[in-house]
Amino acid sequence: TPPLLSPTADARAAADAVARASGRPAHRATLVLGSGWSDVVVGLADPGTAVAIPMAGLPGFAPPSVAGHRGTVTSCLVDGVPVLAVAGRTHLYEGVGTEPVVHPAHVAAAVGSDVLVLTNAAGGVRDDLTVGELVLIRDHLNLTGRSPLSGPAFVDLVDAYSPRLRHIAAEALRAATGARPAEGVYAAMPGPQYETPAEIRMLRTLGADLVGMSTVPETVAARGLGLRVVGVSLVTNLAAGVTGQPLDHAEVLAAGTAGSGRLSRALRALVPAAARS
Ligand code: 6GU
Repeated sequence: TPPLLSPTADARAAADAVARASGRPAHRATLVLGSGWSDVVVGLADPGTAVAIPMAGLPGFAPPSVAGHRGTVTSCLVDGVPVLAVAGRTHLYEGVGTEPVVHPAHVAAAVGSDVLVLTNAAGGVRDDLTVGELVLIRDHLNLTGRSPLSGPAFVDLVDAYSPRLRHIAAEALRAATGARPAEGVYAAMPGPQYETPAEIRMLRTLGADLVGMSTVPETVAARGLGLRVVGVSLVTNLAAGVTGQPLDHAEVLAAGTAGSGRLSRALRALVPAAARS
């Protein structure tokens, strides 16, 4: 079926700038790196292939919410496959609307990717999940109250997270980490506050295994664009009330940084396998 959406003009302009800067006319997969995942780029790229492009020079990305602090888009080869890695995502809680939030999905389509790999930091809601674990997203709950779509674009979200790619991703992660990853349902909350223990009990009742503040708008937009989506959550903490501990953003980031070698190995296996399938 043809895509319901097409890349925006900003995404086309960003893709042209990426092609000029990298000398690569197409990227087979685009990877969005969530909180705590940005260090992964260094270990991800085949040596000598990474071209870092500051987001400030690319159309469509939101201006910095913290002065002097914005992301980088990196063109590289991963096991020989051209991949575009976006580090520094915009979240709904920044209040700039959905457009910059889903811009990486439009850029992915514009650079020729048919696979979008979305990573995030998530709280573990299901009680068997442990800190540091990678979980493949099987499905989501959009509790943000927002949609990146407008107009009569009735995008189908059955198998939004491609079952075939989930299988390929699970095999790649098993080979890279030694453990077959769990799968789970990701609940997207508007944030930026973390949940109350009562809200986490509510989410568990609704069937959520993971909770976070991203990924869902990008997945919805990507499905409208006809991209295949893989979602990977790093469990950085257990959700409110699961342990007696308070939640702390610094800890969420530290959990990602601490495991960055392991995360690089995981993505070095997963991204090219998904792109080649
Ligand atoms: Cl517990 N909640 C939300 N909304 N986002 C998170 C999280 C929790 N842990 C990491 N990201």
